[in-house]
Amino acid sequence: QQRILTGITTTGIPHLGNYVGAIRPAIAASSASGVESFFFLADYHGLIKCDDPVRLSRSRVEIAAAWLASGLDPERTYFYRQSDVPETLELYWLLTCVTAKGLMNRAHAYKAATDSNEAEGEDIDAGVTMGLFCYPILMAADILLFNAHKVPVGRDQLQHLEMTRDIAQRFNQLFGNGKELLTLPEAVVGEQAVLPGLDGRKMSKSYGNTIPLFAGGRDGLSAGVMKIVTDSKLPGEPKDPDANPILTLYSAFAGADESAAFRAELASGLGWGEAKSRLVQCIERELAPMRERYESLMAAPAKVEEILLAGADKARALARALLEELRDAVGLRGFS
Ligand code: TYM
Repeated sequence: QQRILTGITTTGIPHLGNYVGAIRPAIAASSASGVESFFFLADYHGLIKCDDPVRLSRSRVEIAAAWLASGLDPERTYFYRQSDVPETLELYWLLTCVTAKGLMNRAHAYKAATDSNEAEGEDIDAGVTMGLFCYPILMAADILLFNAHKVPVGRDQLQHLEMTRDIAQRFNQLFGNGKELLTLPEAVVGEQAVLPGLDGRKMSKSYGNTIPLFAGGRDGLSAGVMKIVTDSKLPGEPKDPDANPILTLYSAFAGADESAAFRAELASGLGWGEAKSRLVQCIERELAPMRERYESLMAAPAKVEEILLAGADKARALARALLEELRDAVGLRGFS
């Protein structure tokens, strides 16, 4: 039995990058036979970046509805909110006690914060919370709590997966007695491992360059696509198809032949306005049927809540069993 697991932080509106990098490949992988899937809303992680309770709770419903609308079947998967499985935090502590501080010093998010403080002549740790510093350990706990084998993620999460393996290995060495108490997970990075946003950089909540997945309906999608930055070449003038993210976004929703044809049309002078409306049509083909489900789920948050609580019940039973084993292994319980 292969276990796949992935999570999304509940701090903003789900965007095309989340869908293409994580939701779509995760749901596709979960339909294979012999696979058990764990998909969750990383709301403890959300607290690290967000101190606005209204935004956090709204984002949770939006992300849950996005997963369900995209085809996640809560009967066949473990679908839960991280904070409904508090065993996560106990494992987090067990892992924290074996994680070298030096490993955390190298984490990208922490380094980015300290580098920018240094460049501005501030104290290097200004504004850095312990939550941010220990973020990778919490993510390791999410993954190791269910002994996941495969973790579908975008490329930005690869370092966290490597750290998870390091931490698990250390834990096994110390307490495993020759046994692999914790499974070493592998990242699964798809073809569209980094979907670009409006300005060509990685589509990301923190860059403010996202295109919403379902929010705002077709108009929201269209308004997002219209904001993609292009050059000022006129219709009829040949375009560089790689000069902005339009073609890459198109390819994320179209087959190889269709994308090659679109590339050729851009090169031979298709206007940017027309190119953008083709991009909207192409994305809509896949998203329109899902958006109806999304809207009806958003109108029924109590139903979403019920699904999440039922998922957490199932997940907790597994989490408790693993923790009992780990409590014995480290000496918190049992006799030697
Ligand atoms: P988060 O919430 O930033 O993003 C959720 C998922 O979406 C992917 N993603 C992208 N993929 C391709 N192109 C993009 N532009 C793009 N933007 C986002 C991310 O790579 C991620 O897979 N730490 C995680 C959440 C998390 C998690 C976990 C993931 C917490 N615990 C355990 C896996 C397993 C995060 O911040 O992702």
